[in-house]
Formats: sequence, structure tokens, C-alpha cells
Amino acid sequence: MDKSYFDVLVNRENTMCYKYDFKEKNKKPKDCIPMWVADMDFRTAPEIIKALKEKSEYGIFGYSDTTGEYEEAVAYWAERHYGIDIDSSWIVKTPGIIFALSDAVRAFTSVGESVIIQQPVYHPFKNMVVQNGRNMVSNDLTENDGFYSMDLEDLENKIEKYNCKLFMLCNPHNPVGRYWTEQELKELGNVLLKHNMIVLSDEIHADFVWGQNKPISLLKAVPELKDRMIVCQSPSKTFNIAGIQVANIIIPNKEIRDRFISFKKSVGCDELNIFALVSCIAAYTKGEEWYNCMREYIYDNILYVESIINPMKEISMVRPEATYLIWLDFRKTGLSSDKIENKLLNEAGVWFNRGEMFGAMGEGFFRMNVACPRKTLEDVMSRLKNTFK
Ligand SMILES: Cc1ncc(COP(=O)(O)O)c(C=O)c1O
Repeated sequence: MDKSYFDVLVNRENTMCYKYDFKEKNKKPKDCIPMWVADMDFRTAPEIIKALKEKSEYGIFGYSDTTGEYEEAVAYWAERHYGIDIDSSWIVKTPGIIFALSDAVRAFTSVGESVIIQQPVYHPFKNMVVQNGRNMVSNDLTENDGFYSMDLEDLENKIEKYNCKLFMLCNPHNPVGRYWTEQELKELGNVLLKHNMIVLSDEIHADFVWGQNKPISLLKAVPELKDRMIVCQSPSKTFNIAGIQVANIIIPNKEIRDRFISFKKSVGCDELNIFALVSCIAAYTKGEEWYNCMREYIYDNILYVESIINPMKEISMVRPEATYLIWLDFRKTGLSSDKIENKLLNEAGVWFNRGEMFGAMGEGFFRMNVACPRKTLEDVMSRLKNTFK
């Protein structure tokens, strides 16, 4: 495996692809380059494709469940990459992490109660709270020149004021690209412990931590919270298999786990489809070489974008510490988000996510996904340079 695998321009049009095939429906120009949804324009690991092919050729797709091989694969990756020991009984499978956000909201709060999150954050955090009839409270991240930190005093005040029972953390953080350090997680953990909170830690981006840093699961940083913790892991972002729908929710405490499972089952969600099971096993046991190469490729893409953005006057960025998403700051243009979006779509011909979708404080920011071949990225950056100073 070498980087040429990731240079290949795979045509995703007319493949029922959310990112490319719904421009008209989303009122976007036909010829814009989509850099929004957080999936990759790369083919997944050959080992996963092979495992899926073998299973599809077998031809019987009846009801399925896991034997120990699946749980071993999940525990193997968690031990190897996050340094945590997972007991197989802790693993609850869901078709995705958004399901788990919703299950946790329903299982650990009642209608009308408050759930606390940290905006700007991946928008389903808010949606799963609000759509389940709960009150969304945001402990907004504090921004300083594009770099974000947690405001723990505000967190504590809001937990008390709104009597919050559930806190949902994005670790690492989408869209601002923060890698929460062990120290930050420990300080956060102290507040959560003091207030007896149930804590969900969404760690879907853990495999995209850059530089010398290693992913830090909340489970490792704050083991004292273990009995109140729901940790969401998944091969879907890491191996570009989001369309297959597989996630593993790690819940060490039996009471919390049983309650979570009963809510998961209450909406008819039981075992996963066979392709989800097969691809998760192949990813975690055979996908490492692809994974390492993909990481290098994406990190080079981030550095390349930075080299173009840094000399620009109207756009700035802080290099993400994690994730393949770049949080571009357009505030120096002095334009409203509507005007910036219009220029991006209709002058540059690039489609990014608007910052406000992650919370009102995202005004003036746009999120760009750089998990694509370098050639696509070069095109996008030259379009940006021609449109903005
Ligand atoms: C923080 C975060 N959580 C969850 C998801 C989606 O997870 P799933 O597809 O497993 O529901 C994403 C996808 O972008 C994400 O960024």
C-alpha cells in the first residue's frame, strides 16, 4: 500500500452518494466541488472490500449476530490504539453513533429535562436533544483567534442552574478540531464527577489525532467516571464505511448499559446487518496498513491547505489537532455568512458546511473536509485563492 491508492479520483456521482448526488435538491450549483459531509473520497481498505465480497458471494443474508470474533476485534483496536481494556460484555452495537446520542438522551433524561453540550459542535448533538423533547443547554466553547477551549466555570453554573443530568462530549471535537489533552479531560471529569453526571463521550474521530499526540479516551483520562460513562467508538469514520452503519458503544457499568440497551431495543433496534459485522472485523484486524497510509495522506493535505491559507488576508485557520475537517475563519472578509456562502458556491464553486449549523457562534466560519485526493484539493484551493484575498 502506498499513497497512490489515495491519489485515485474515484467518480462518486450517480452512486446514491449523499455528498455528490444531491446538489440540485440542496440548491447547490451543478459544478461545485462538494467538501462538506464528513466522509472520504477514498476507497476503503482492500481487506474490507475482500471480506464484503466474500460475504456477498455466499448469498445467504439471514438474521445475524456476533460471535466472540467481533468483540475481540473491537477490543484489539481499542487496546492497540487507545490503550484501554474493554471487556466484551461492555460493547453495545448500534447502526451508528447518532442512534446512541438519541438512546442516551431518552434513557437518562425525561421529556423537558436539560442536556448539556458544547457548541459549536456536530449538529446532531443538539438535534437529538431537541427532537426528543429535551432542553438543549450549551456550555459554549471559548474562542481565541480560532483556538477553542472549555469554560468549566460556565459548565458548572449551567449544570446547577438547569439541573442537567447528561453531558455529551465530542472527543476529539468536530468541527473545531480540538484534541482535548489529558489535563483538560481530567479537569472536565472533576466537574462531571462532582455533579454526578452521566457522560457520553463521542470518540468517532479518535483515529484522526495528528502529530505526536495519541488519542485519549475519556475512559482512560477519567477512570473515576467509568460507572457513569457511555463511550462511542466506530470504524465508520476511520475506514470510510459510514454507509454500512456500524458503531460500538462501550458502557462498563451494567445498570447503565442495561438501561441504554432497553431504550435501544424499544425502537426496534437489535442486531446489526451482516455487512456491518463483517466490515468492522476486517477493519480492526486487517485494515492497519491502509489506515496508516491514509493518515499520512490526509495530514499532508492539512499541511498543504495551511500553506495556502496562511498567506491569505481574508481567510485564516488553526491547524486541526484532530479530525480531517478544517474550520476556516472568514470573519476578516467583513461579510455575512450568507454573502460568504454565496461567493463560495457561485464564484469559487466549492461547497463547505456553514459554521452556524454547529451553533450560532459558528457565524463567519465554514467547515471544509480534506479527506480527498490531492488533485481535488488543489482545484478547491486554487478556486478559493481566485475568489478571496
Ligand atoms: C462527532 C460525530 N459523531 C457522530 C457522527 C456520525 O456517526 P454515525 O454515522 O455513526 O451515526 C459524526 C459524523 O460526521 C461525527 O462527526
